[in-house]
Amino acid sequence: MGDEQQSVVFDRAADFYDATRGFPPGVAARAAALVVEVGGLGATSRVLEVGVGTGRVALPLAALVSNVVGVDLSVPMLRHLLAKRGEPRVAVARADAVQLPFPAARFDAVIGVHFFHLVPRWREALAEVARVLRRGAPLLLGADEPQDAWARCREELAVCNAVDHPGVSRSRFFDFPADEGWSPLGERHRIAFPRRIRPRQILERLAERSWSITWRMSDAQIERAVEALRPELVARFGDLDAEAEVAGGFSVQGWLAPE
Ligand SMILES: C[S@@+](CC[C@H](N)C(=O)[O-])C[C@H]1O[C@@H](n2cnc3c(N)ncnc32)[C@H](O)[C@@H]1O
Repeated sequence: MGDEQQSVVFDRAADFYDATRGFPPGVAARAAALVVEVGGLGATSRVLEVGVGTGRVALPLAALVSNVVGVDLSVPMLRHLLAKRGEPRVAVARADAVQLPFPAARFDAVIGVHFFHLVPRWREALAEVARVLRRGAPLLLGADEPQDAWARCREELAVCNAVDHPGVSRSRFFDFPADEGWSPLGERHRIAFPRRIRPRQILERLAERSWSITWRMSDAQIERAVEALRPELVARFGDLDAEAEVAGGFSVQGWLAPE
């Protein structure tokens, strides 16, 4: 299979994923509660997360829903999840979302959080999701949705450099299933919370290629992005080493597969 057909696997991010992507204290439980609310889930619902990673969403969800399963292509990411899990548990498997190792109609919901943009064969993955969902059960798409300028910079710098993700385009994160005949399950729901950041970290994380979009950028593109961003951050925050509070958010949109 050519590179252009391959998903972005997170092996290289496993050791720093939680430190760079984790929710602020207390927010994970609220994010899980939002997933439960939007999905209409109950304590005994069977839920699958595709691209479960280190369990950022699946582990707090398992405190509310007894039967949570996660698949991921990255063994190092799954190892981090397994190292954290106590009770309640999340069952995991190394599997590709384009070929899920489950029978048809197995789940009451499938979750995909920061996932489909990483999968060039996302249409096949979406069809697999439809196959393993029981009739009328939702796909729940989730993403961190920072409202503040500092966080938008990641997206903007990618646009500046004409770099996009290999799967679903960033502009279609929440609504791409519509193109495949899926129907929205109500409105997009969002929780808001503050995040504390040290602005210089944004430049450091860019230079260290912490975010997956940067794995597709050349050294020259990274350098240009850092230099373009620095004055913007100074204008926005002043002292780049002083901790600042910015607005954060997490959103979930439910979708129902075509009949
Ligand atoms: C950005 S991380 C998100 C992890 C988790 N959902 C979260 O919100 O923290 C995306 C995960 O999807 C995994 N992944 C990418 N392509 C995949 C595929 N085709 N099948 C299964 N997992 C995949 C990556 O290895 C990575 O762990």
